[in-house]
Amino acid sequence: MKKLIAGNWKMNGSRSGNADLLQAIVAGLPVGVCDVVVCPPALYVADVIQAVQGSAILVGSQDVSAAEKGAFTGELSAAMLHEHGVRFAIVGHSERRQFHGESDAMVGAKAQAALAKGVTPIVCVGETLEQREAGQTQAVVKRQLAAAIHAVGHCVSEIVVAYEPVWAIGTGQTATPEQAQEVHAVLRAQLRAATETADAVRIVYGGSMNAANAASLLAQPDIDGGLIGGASLKAADFLSIIQAAS
Ligand code: PGA
Repeated sequence: MKKLIAGNWKMNGSRSGNADLLQAIVAGLPVGVCDVVVCPPALYVADVIQAVQGSAILVGSQDVSAAEKGAFTGELSAAMLHEHGVRFAIVGHSERRQFHGESDAMVGAKAQAALAKGVTPIVCVGETLEQREAGQTQAVVKRQLAAAIHAVGHCVSEIVVAYEPVWAIGTGQTATPEQAQEVHAVLRAQLRAATETADAVRIVYGGSMNAANAASLLAQPDIDGGLIGGASLKAADFLSIIQAAS
């Protein structure tokens, strides 16, 4: 299957900085490329959509509301995102689970809300260091994915899953390819139990993926791409990862 490389810019960037970054990425994009998505802060989505026009790059958001519309101050609906050309939405990133109290059920509801409007949710799962050391990794990621599978029902083959061990995010401490593959295989088995088309679901890895380690991670049988934070803010690094996935 075609691999997916998504850049999660988090709360970084500026109008001029984004323009420079995108210009360099678009100019350096290899032909016959894997699927490439950039997820800027929502305020920049319209600018970014314009900047990537005519290229193979798609645009995602970093979050989406579980609600369709109404009294939800500060939130953006899937319909609004879709109207602006956003085709992916990260849901349940560990930073949102940690700093915004997002529960498994809420993450599932967000995934469902996105799918309902034609936005592909990138559902993030992952254990903390404490949970890994307590031997709870598989139980944690299975619980998180189960909530999303339950919420999206028969549409499960349309989601993207991102395995992001919390201890690897922004720390420079990447999971080894074997550690990541072990968890991806567990997630694949769980998807297979839910849908006949589980092998078409992309399970991407995130957590200090960079130009140096991308190829070995992406060579694993169940690693179908990457969700890239820090390294997606540097054109050369992001392009190297894209190259490794293409
Ligand atoms: P990182 O972030 O690549 O900076 O570790 C990944 C993510 O949080 O999606």
